[in-house]
Amino acid sequence: MSVKNKVDELKARKGLFVVLDGGEGVGKSTNSEFIQQYLTSQSIDFISTREPGGTPFAEKIRQLVLSESDESINALSELLLIFAARAQHLNQKISPALLAGQWVLCDRFTDATYAYQGSGRGIDTSLISECENLVQGQLRPDLTIILDAPLSVTRKRLDERESLDRMEKESLDFHERVASAYRERALASPETYALIDASQPLGNVQADIKKVLDDVIKKWREPSDRL
Ligand code: TMP
Repeated sequence: MSVKNKVDELKARKGLFVVLDGGEGVGKSTNSEFIQQYLTSQSIDFISTREPGGTPFAEKIRQLVLSESDESINALSELLLIFAARAQHLNQKISPALLAGQWVLCDRFTDATYAYQGSGRGIDTSLISECENLVQGQLRPDLTIILDAPLSVTRKRLDERESLDRMEKESLDFHERVASAYRERALASPETYALIDASQPLGNVQADIKKVLDDVIKKWREPSDRL
């Protein structure tokens, strides 16, 4: 099926595409669990997945991208690998689920590419945007929840981890640029992004997330507003 046909079909989808993203150590795993429990409590049929990865082949690419390498990895090679994984993930898992009416909850998506490969590695935004259009057509998340916390908080959490991957080992400066890029992207499009202060006590973070979800669930349940 051509990308164009796929996009036309996706316009008819009924499930929502929700992404949870943010810098390292912001509490994505804990809050993803919370979102999954909340969607279940609301009787919403969903799948949960992640990037890079989400299918066996894309998970192999994830290994390549995140594992230590003796050879220095070219930023463009990294970018293309991430979009290769994304093309596989979209075709094999995300699009079929959306077309079947399921919601998709994805741990990271293309905002991570703008933040890590764009701001972090310095790849031009226009190149990322070209790859995004090529791989995703018009498909964009319906809601992106960005967890945001100062590096003074997130670094402490990373320091407690037993081992760090290739991205987590990057400099403070790199992670500062990543966090700023997420913030800027979220603030630029408040209609589809929620920027949540993840340095608050967990109960408050989850209350904020629940409020955002309640809003989209309410709209989604109103027949006239369904996609
Ligand atoms: P995580 O699943 O533990 O957050 O790890 C995924 C890592 O991959 C994280 O360091 C961010 C990185 N990443 C990118 O650099 N670009 C991307 O487009 C995505 C989705 C992730």
